[in-house]
Amino acid sequence: MDLPLRTYLIETYGCQMNERDTETMAGILESLGYVPVEKEEDASIILLNTCSVRESAENKIWAKMGELKKIKQKNPDVILGICGCMPQQEVTIQKIKQSYPHMDLVFGTHNLHQLPELLAKAQAARKMVVEVLHNNPGVIIENLPSRRADNLKAFVTIMYGCNNFCTYCIVPYTRGRERSRMPEDIIREVEDLAAKGYKEITLLGQNVNSYGKDLEVEIDFAGLLQQLNRVNGIERIRFTTSHPKDLSDRLIEAIASLEKVCEHIHLPVQSGSTAILKKMNRRYSKEDYLRLVEKLKNAVPDIAITTDIIVGFPGETEADFAETMDLVEKVRFSAAYTFIYNKRSGTPAAEYNDQVPEDVKSQRIQHLIDRQNQITLEENLKDIGKTLEVLVEGPSKTNPEFFSGRTRTNKIVVFRGNSDLIGRLIPVRIANAKTWHLEGEII
Ligand code: SAH
Ligand code: SF4
Ligand code: F3S
Repeated sequence: MDLPLRTYLIETYGCQMNERDTETMAGILESLGYVPVEKEEDASIILLNTCSVRESAENKIWAKMGELKKIKQKNPDVILGICGCMPQQEVTIQKIKQSYPHMDLVFGTHNLHQLPELLAKAQAARKMVVEVLHNNPGVIIENLPSRRADNLKAFVTIMYGCNNFCTYCIVPYTRGRERSRMPEDIIREVEDLAAKGYKEITLLGQNVNSYGKDLEVEIDFAGLLQQLNRVNGIERIRFTTSHPKDLSDRLIEAIASLEKVCEHIHLPVQSGSTAILKKMNRRYSKEDYLRLVEKLKNAVPDIAITTDIIVGFPGETEADFAETMDLVEKVRFSAAYTFIYNKRSGTPAAEYNDQVPEDVKSQRIQHLIDRQNQITLEENLKDIGKTLEVLVEGPSKTNPEFFSGRTRTNKIVVFRGNSDLIGRLIPVRIANAKTWHLEGEII
């Protein structure tokens, strides 16, 4: 069968922000008559939606851009584009121009809505079209089309950008300053999702706790949660990411009292050493973080707390690392995303001259991962015998008789079931626990 003339493939790297942007770009392309394909050889447009948070992520993308040259040689009409966070840095654009001249289109995180005109330009010009805004566009463009990746769970971006400038992080430079969407736009989007049958939403922002601070209307994140909790049809509300310095008592109260807001919080700590936290510009101490955890656990007894931890930040001593391990023991995270500190050029910490040797970083992270995995398992074992509400997502990847879904605490549960259950909230009794999932029976 002949393929349609207009086909696209978007390859997404990085965080949920990028996943959501990909849904928007897919929506825009489909409104222009493009259809998705899975193989690069079949696509008339290939977009790489990129991430610059770590060099390893960027290196993968440079390699991919190199490979795309072969696709271009076979099919000179294909449009090759790169977007997302990498092109937000001027050095990256220069390198693409110099070393990857087979790319046709380069645009940034603030230019998504211009995709139709940029594409037309690239198709007509047959030379590289570069359109990157380095400053905030000011206004947020609403009502862009979107093709969602899932039909039960949806990401809803509530704010863009970041004002925090943690000294290791590139995000404030790639995404600009914080801009909140108007509450009515968010509510309309969520009502629309509910009408389409979505059961769960995850509110996205680099720091959702500061939602609304830039708006003229009186609203904060807790207030937004209260309004969204009233949307009929939506059963579960999640959000990510929360910055500890902005986690207010009002928000803790909202998590505790609003029935749709799930008992899970992703609260990146980054380090357990107050001295390192200061050098990271995180603006809280180890004790502040532990106090917050205490408050959360008191207000929401079954809450699962997950986190991000960076190991080997410049100047991190054995004693600093021991503070991180101590914090991990005290909090008992249900899971942690652990990262080896990566020198990110363009950020202050990349210039610090007390970088930690690679072998020390590797040893520390291994130690941390080993211990955290034990804690994750120990915490999961505590769920055995409990009956937990599971939102059924679909058949398990390994065995078609088994289905999987997630608890409100965001843990994966595998159980024997059938496809009629997909999309339903069901009680499952937990019979067994592993590090990465629970096993149970429907009751
Ligand atoms: N806005 C979110 C996360 C953004 S980036 C927050 O503030 O938590 C996701 C994670 O990548 C960060 O939490 C951090 O742990 C990690 N990260 C960011 N820059 C890094 C770097 N230079 N090296 C290693 N890890 C990094
Ligand atoms: Fe990066 Fe810090 Fe902003 Fe998170 S809060 S995106 S880690 S600068
Ligand atoms: Fe990466 Fe950009 Fe997200 S740098 S982590 S894709 S905001």
